[in-house]
Amino acid sequence: MVNQFEVTLNGNKENAEGSETLLTFLNKMEVEVPSLCYHPSLGPIETCDTCIVKVNGEYVRSCSTEIKPGDIVETKSDDVHEAQIIAMDRVLGNHELYCTVCDYNNGNCEIHNAVKEMKISHQETPHTSKESPVQRNDFYRYDPDQCILCGRCVEACQDVQVTETLSIDWDLKRPRVIWDKNSPIDESSCVNCGHCSTVCPCNAMMEVGMEGEAGFLTGFREEAMRPMINITKSVETGYESLMTISDVEATMREERIKKTKTVCTYCGVGCAFDVWTKGRQVLKVEPQAEAPANGISTCVKGKFGWDFVNSEERITRPLIREGNEFREAEWEEALDLIENKFNKIKKEKGSDSLAFISSSKCTNEESYLMQKLARAVIGTNNVDNCSRYCQSPATMGLWRTVGYGGDSGGIGDIAKSELVISIGSNTVESHPVLATRVKRAQKLNGQKVIVADIRKHELADRADLFVKPAPGSDLVWLSAVTKHILDKGWHDDEFLQKHVNNVDEFIESLEPYTLEYAEEVTHLSKEELKWIAESIHEAQTTCILWAMGVTQHGGGSDTSTAISNLLLVTGNYMKPAAGAYPLRGHNNVQGASDFGSMPDRFPGYQFVTDDDVRKRFEASWGTSLPAKPGLNNHEMVEAIHDGYLNALYLKGEDMGIVDANINYVQSAFEKLDFFVVQDVFFSKTCQYADVVLPASPSFEKEGTFTNTERRFQRLYQVFEPMGESLPDWKIIMEIANTLGADWSYTHPSEIMDEAASLTPIFAGVNYERLEGYNSLQWPVAEDGTDSPLLFTEEFPLPDGKAKLHPVEWTKPLEFEEEYDIHVNNGRLLEHFHEGNLTYKSKAISGKTPSVFLEVSQELADDRGIEDGTKVKLTSPYGSVKVSCVVTDRVFGKQVYLPMNTSGEGAINYLTSSHSDKDTDTPAYKEISAKMEVLESKGESPLPRNNHRYGSPQPQIGVKVEEKWARKDYVFPGDLVKERRAKKHG
Ligand code: SF4
Ligand code: SF4
Ligand code: SF4
Ligand code: FES
Repeated sequence: MVNQFEVTLNGNKENAEGSETLLTFLNKMEVEVPSLCYHPSLGPIETCDTCIVKVNGEYVRSCSTEIKPGDIVETKSDDVHEAQIIAMDRVLGNHELYCTVCDYNNGNCEIHNAVKEMKISHQETPHTSKESPVQRNDFYRYDPDQCILCGRCVEACQDVQVTETLSIDWDLKRPRVIWDKNSPIDESSCVNCGHCSTVCPCNAMMEVGMEGEAGFLTGFREEAMRPMINITKSVETGYESLMTISDVEATMREERIKKTKTVCTYCGVGCAFDVWTKGRQVLKVEPQAEAPANGISTCVKGKFGWDFVNSEERITRPLIREGNEFREAEWEEALDLIENKFNKIKKEKGSDSLAFISSSKCTNEESYLMQKLARAVIGTNNVDNCSRYCQSPATMGLWRTVGYGGDSGGIGDIAKSELVISIGSNTVESHPVLATRVKRAQKLNGQKVIVADIRKHELADRADLFVKPAPGSDLVWLSAVTKHILDKGWHDDEFLQKHVNNVDEFIESLEPYTLEYAEEVTHLSKEELKWIAESIHEAQTTCILWAMGVTQHGGGSDTSTAISNLLLVTGNYMKPAAGAYPLRGHNNVQGASDFGSMPDRFPGYQFVTDDDVRKRFEASWGTSLPAKPGLNNHEMVEAIHDGYLNALYLKGEDMGIVDANINYVQSAFEKLDFFVVQDVFFSKTCQYADVVLPASPSFEKEGTFTNTERRFQRLYQVFEPMGESLPDWKIIMEIANTLGADWSYTHPSEIMDEAASLTPIFAGVNYERLEGYNSLQWPVAEDGTDSPLLFTEEFPLPDGKAKLHPVEWTKPLEFEEEYDIHVNNGRLLEHFHEGNLTYKSKAISGKTPSVFLEVSQELADDRGIEDGTKVKLTSPYGSVKVSCVVTDRVFGKQVYLPMNTSGEGAINYLTSSHSDKDTDTPAYKEISAKMEVLESKGESPLPRNNHRYGSPQPQIGVKVEEKWARKDYVFPGDLVKERRAKKHG
């Protein structure tokens, strides 16, 4: 219960609540107090002193003082105001007020607003230069002369993003922000996540996209700017007129700067933010504290990776193949051709000779329409999406055991968990913002982190325990840990009895998984296994995160099942801060499956084989629907080779480079009678198409995405579609209508309404409920009640109980001895997937221009490899050529090839068609190759300005004590006391 008590505020009795700070209380009471260094998402930093008030006769910083019963608080007295003015004067000594010609003068500059509110008309401490040059890179810039040393950027970098690059050097004569050990930004560990520029209260740390662009009078070259500032200051005598004129200018900006809420199109974390645009120009991305998944956070891609939207390489007109060339065509001609070909092939070879592939980059509504097109218009269940390449095994593991294939809770639950176990997930690079929550919880709140991976990525490096199982052996150690927990009696008996079936059979199935056996197979020591078991036993809550290192194996579904089994045995479901977290890769990989682009399921995972379900869809869609499950992506490729599949319609998916064994996939495309590809760029896959349709990216449409937390979020249209490109939902509707459907959707909200009416788990989802930054986590009841926690009272299985599902280990593929290098592969922070979008960013490409191969020192020594050595890797399925980087992130004969290229280094020239036995997800992680050195010397593929060469300087917060200890610092409250004492003799 909240502890309420009475305090006296400016002479009046008021009620306050225990554990709130004075500043929170004052804000609630609408008593204005400046608070320049305070940011609600960062907490008290205590550097600015502007929030000084008096409590029980003593001057205190209100942002960091806890309110207590009986406190007598004064905020309006002259002496309090004097102390605040002293603090503000120091701020202005560090920050020059040239608001009218400042790009930050957009109504939200906190210094400008504080000067206005405090009615400051002059300053005692003149602004002086810190005599240190402006620092910049291609993402943001730092102007020391405008920096008020509030430390927000440092707090954000150190304790929210936890890259630990920034600090303030309080020992300098004029302190300022520094990167690492005072390196230039581009030689530091900065990952360009943009947290610092997001939280800066002024123009000191600012996105370069804003520079010279936001204001009407700001686009002057540097040498012209100083005279301009001087002119402004001489015209605007006194701060009052300066404030008035600059406020008028700021209001004029509102006309031309548009702020639109959108959701990131890159990864499954689902960051939402406002995009500031001027015409078609992106000025900046501004995350908002209210964004449910990310708050103020972004990674480099979401903050800065939007150049692709306006790229000249966009496809803006339909293209039709003529021989080996493509020619531009009118929409009408392209649609006619599609109609003729689809109808002809359907008539001659049957509906099942056509197939459809949805995109996990597209919206839920677009996934819904694609499967409706396949089922209702063509009459086939041959529809799938790229979750087949990564997520299907995780979903299968959860379906089998707990009934729903989604994260048990939200990102906030992961942050609150006592123990986080991350398995086969390069979280810091693949799910950057989610990873920051783990890093912060570990750094500040003592969260324990265990990482199981074969590569020492950042989270592994930070973990309390990092174990390196033999590749593909996770199921064995997970089962051994589960068995050890049961043997020790550490299982949650009450939970098992109440909520779980099949316990005895499961326990029996664990018999072979002794610690000895696990040690032999996985190479983890018994001590490590026991430590993991003990940690789970000791923690009140455990979350397990996993990703492609688990799923992309022959036994990926079984290993995912073993994870869920372990969580069930230890009672780590049905409570906050616990559970299963399969981290979804693409922005809408969750939603693409949720909305029915699957060969055996309608939206909401309803079976196509279920007569009642099918009847419901038939009644709504006014047509009969096929009951036989269709082909998945993997089976489609086989069927093309076998001659049973003749036409393919694929949207937003570079299958020709991201599927496994691409030589085989590309040769399948060549065999198609008719191939339609819909994309934003002319991808590798487009090269095999007969018709290429120009689609619009997320900025050019409305819709919803569902992130890894099962969270629906709306995106609003930022720009008009470029050229003749169209949002995917419109294109699908056009195609359906040319084929005789009579669809008349005018807005994606109508598509959502239809989907929700047919899908019990989305019953209460609609656009009104998702307005702005509102979100819903499925299942959503008709009245709009959503489910932040997926399981609360029962599991969605026949008798409401979960089911322990026995699994056996599937040995990874074995290769001939000559293929002696294990080729691990996966994502990279700065490029998304193959990089089709992120390479269009000059700034990102400048940091990471190409793919590279990570090689261990041991292997480098053995083969004469150094940074820049070019090698050829050859597997039984193909070969790649790539330059090396020698690193301690990989070990022995294991190398790491990120997937960020469509060129000769593309990983999928090496991978095989071998797949997970239960879902057909390619076993991307089971690949070995032989290595040949092609050129021993060469330029390193990773330029020196890449953050991986940086040298982070971890510390907690901004170390304000060092400021307070400086000889030139006096607490304004003490100064006021001193002045008053002198005055009164
Ligand atoms: S990592 Fe770089 S961009 Fe991110 S907060 Fe730190 S200094 Fe700023
Ligand atoms: S650069 Fe950092 S320390 Fe300087 S004003 Fe901005 S947030 Fe504060
Ligand atoms: S890529 Fe992922 S973590 Fe980065 S901003 Fe986008 S959604 Fe957030
Ligand atoms: S807001 Fe309290 S010290 Fe800055």
